[in-house]
Amino acid sequence: MLRAPVTGCYTQVMTLRKIATIGHPVLRRRARAVTREELETPTMQAFIDDLVETMRDARGAGLAAIQIYEPVRICALEVEANPRYPYAPRIPLTILVNPKLEPIGDERFDNYEGCLSVPNLRGVVSRHAVVHVTAWDRNAQPLDFVARGISAGTYQHEVDHLDGVVFLDRVTDPTTLCTWEHFDHYQREAFIERITPFIARHGG
Ligand code: NI
Repeated sequence: MLRAPVTGCYTQVMTLRKIATIGHPVLRRRARAVTREELETPTMQAFIDDLVETMRDARGAGLAAIQIYEPVRICALEVEANPRYPYAPRIPLTILVNPKLEPIGDERFDNYEGCLSVPNLRGVVSRHAVVHVTAWDRNAQPLDFVARGISAGTYQHEVDHLDGVVFLDRVTDPTTLCTWEHFDHYQREAFIERITPFIARHGG
């Protein structure tokens, strides 16, 4: 890591990291919490930049540190106009450090999920419709907000990774598993029809 001596800024050299795929043991580890001191180090800040860059390059809605072989409790989420999820409400770039999720209410919904660590496979997972999210941001400032709808599902998916859980573990009906091609062909229309009123009710 290079340090710019005058400004105190760090040179922005971002690196695309390799994404672990299903079957690699790192995806089954429980990530460890990050201390405030550790978070403030240039090494950890550069790592977070890499996490974001790798997520964007892979066009994911989220990426957990553990998916790039660093078992620490950090994940990134961002949903812009993503061709993979055109129906999904937007999530501005969010970094969660040591996140905790608490469901609000009993409502659940069936989300069609995929994962950068499970290439070309999607499946239906039951998620809480509303969750209370507490975490630090990348500067160790407290975050405290409520996530609703499909976005709530995205948060649950990412935080699961920090406990070594992948979405496949939560697929209760394996007949819903499909490739992207078959999702587009056979599932997408029905899913959008089913999820649209849910999105309308909960927003992003
Ligand atoms: Ni994932």
